Amino acid sequence: MNIVLFGPPGSGKGTQAKLLAEKYGVPHISTGDILRGNLNNETKLGLEAKTYMDKGELVPDDVLIGLIKDRLSDSDCASGFLLDGYPRTLPQAEALSKILSELGKNLDVVLNIDVPDEKLLKRLAGRRMCVCGASYHILFNKPKQEGICDLCGSKLYQRDDDKEEAIMNRLVVYQNQTRPLIDHYTQAGVMLTINGAADIEVVFNGICRMLDDLRK
Ligand code: AP5
Ligand code: MG
Repeated sequence: MNIVLFGPPGSGKGTQAKLLAEKYGVPHISTGDILRGNLNNETKLGLEAKTYMDKGELVPDDVLIGLIKDRLSDSDCASGFLLDGYPRTLPQAEALSKILSELGKNLDVVLNIDVPDEKLLKRLAGRRMCVCGASYHILFNKPKQEGICDLCGSKLYQRDDDKEEAIMNRLVVYQNQTRPLIDHYTQAGVMLTINGAADIEVVFNGICRMLDDLRK
C-alpha cells in the first residue's frame, strides 16, 4: 500500500512508521530523517536545510519535491511506501499526485494521527534520539539504561529543534501550512483519522486494524 502518515510534530509519525515498516515490509520515508542525514554529512542540501530546521520553519517546497520525486522512483518503493513528514504544504501535495501518476501509482490512504496540543509539547521536549535512528522518550518510551540506546549502546541526544522555542514555532507552522491538507485529503476521499493520544502500542494496533480493513 502507498501510505502517508500525517500529523503534527510529536504526534508519533516516526514511531508508528518504524513499527509499520517492520510489520508490512514497506520502506519508511521520513523527509525529516533524510534532511538530518544530509546535515550530518554536511551536504549542500543539508547545510541549506539547517537554517530552516533549527528555527522550526519548513524547508522550501522545490527542495522537498525534488527529493521525494527521486526517492519514490527507487525500486524498493515498487510495492508500497510509508511517507512520514511529506507532504506538508498544498504545493507538496499537488506535486505528490503528479509524481505518483507519472509513476503509475495511487495514494491509498492518508492516516491522520490526531493528538491534542498539550501532549505534543511534552512528547517533543522529552524525546531523545540515537545516531542509529532509534527514538525514545524520557517518560513514555524509556531506554533500559538512562541516556543509552538499547539497540547500539550509543549516547542519546536531543534534536536541535526539540528546544521549546523551536517546538512552539513548529506547532504554529503546522497549524498554518500543514493542517489545511486535512481538508484537501478529506475531499479527495483518502483521509482516515486515528486517535494518537493513547499508548504507542494501542495506536499501532488501531492503525493495523484500519490498514487490514482497507486491504480486504
Ligand atoms: P520532522 O523530522 O518530520 O519533524 P516533525 O514533523 O516536526 O515531527 P517529529 O519527527 O518531531 O514528530 P513525529 O510525529 O515523528 O513523532 P515521534 O514519533 O518522533 O521534520 C523536521 C524538520 O524538517 C521540519 O521542521 C522542517 O524544517 C523539515 N522538513 C521535514 N519535512 C519537510 C517537508 N515535507 N517540507 C518542508 N520541510 C520539511 O514521537 C515524538 C516523541 O513522542 C518520541 O519521544 C516518542 O517516543 C513519543 N511518542 C510517540 N508516540 C507516543 C504515544 N502514543 N504516547 C506517548 N509518547 C509517544
Ligand atoms: Mg518524526
